[in-house]
Amino acid sequence: MIEKLYIGAISGTSVDGLDISLISISENNVNFLAAKTVSFNSDLKGKLLSLGQSETISIDDLGSIDAELGVLIGSSINCFLTDLSIDPSAIAAIGSHGQTIRHRPEKQPSFTMQIGDPNRIAETTAITCIADFRRRDVAAGGQGAPLVPPFHEALFRTSKQNRVILNIGGISNITILPAAPEQPLIGFDTGPGNALMDSWIKHHTNMPYDDKGDWASSGRASSSLLSLLSEDAYLAKPPPKSTGREHYSLEWLRAHLRSQDIAPEDVQATLLDFTATTIVSAVTKWGSLCENLIVCGGGRLNTALLQRIKELSSFTISIAEDYGVDGDSLESSAFAWLAHQTLSKKAGNQIAVTGAKGPRILGAIYPG
Ligand SMILES: Nc1ncnc2c1ncn2[C@@H]1O[C@H](COP(=O)(O)OP(=O)(O)O)[C@@H](O)[C@H]1O
Ligand SMILES: [Mg+2]
Repeated sequence: MIEKLYIGAISGTSVDGLDISLISISENNVNFLAAKTVSFNSDLKGKLLSLGQSETISIDDLGSIDAELGVLIGSSINCFLTDLSIDPSAIAAIGSHGQTIRHRPEKQPSFTMQIGDPNRIAETTAITCIADFRRRDVAAGGQGAPLVPPFHEALFRTSKQNRVILNIGGISNITILPAAPEQPLIGFDTGPGNALMDSWIKHHTNMPYDDKGDWASSGRASSSLLSLLSEDAYLAKPPPKSTGREHYSLEWLRAHLRSQDIAPEDVQATLLDFTATTIVSAVTKWGSLCENLIVCGGGRLNTALLQRIKELSSFTISIAEDYGVDGDSLESSAFAWLAHQTLSKKAGNQIAVTGAKGPRILGAIYPG
């Protein structure tokens, strides 16, 4: 049986760093071999966040940050392989997601944009790089997101239990995996993950995130603010749907806060409650038979958030580690798997999830 090695790399909507993972694929078996996260320095993080948020972007800034990120992804992969004593020639391909700086599935024409120049990645590593996974799905009328559900299905679907995979990144997304094989996969962004809580604590205390949700736990949720936030139109939309930081931003929060005088820690407590509520209502509405919720992504380390999800729901809650999978590397591994799909000329999108007109081979190939 031929076993091939693939690398996946992604910087998610939290813009906390680059997740890199190494997997092997043989037939339909996926093995997780190694993973690491390379933190961004505050200068690059600031530049990526501002590209993602500002209404006016200079083409010079866009071009140079795209190149800078491409080089960083390539050199980080080189270090990763050196640490593992693996020769680059052993790697079949890199699947690089890059950094989303704009995601506008609702615009006419719809578009999504990821940066981190794949030419630089191929040049720096001498490994074939597959990138730009989302835009073919968007071109076929899909949301371009989420793309991880087929990978979740390959790893976690079973006929014994109705499962839902919850990825709490900057934005939260779920994959509903019905036990009945004839039932289709459902997957969509539920709304905010860590994005709003991260932005609010950064603004008030300059911390990048609320460790274990301790700051939120020191406050009391405001029911009036919670109901105002819950009126957000995205939440009521049926899938397929996807969203981003462009929507769940500090400006969005400030627009809702305008007339209210609420202590900062109480706002944080409300944001935690809002995040938990939106996740639980999405799982309850669309995955009503869910028996087990399996949580991955950095938000699983927010103990207070997980506790609140438990209080609001009736299903069993596990984390990816309970299944022997590193919850921080699932998404980067998914892009390694998508690279394999592309090289094997297989579709990477799942039309029941993204709403595209048909299955499509995703991404472009940059030979090593
Ligand atoms: N110890 C922790 N306590 C609370 N939240 C955490 C902790 N560690 C990580 N996080 C959250 O996880 C986020 C990163 O999650 P990640 O899965 O990388 O998201 P993304 O895919 O959007 O980059 C951080 O920004 C932070 O909000
Ligand atoms: Mg991340």
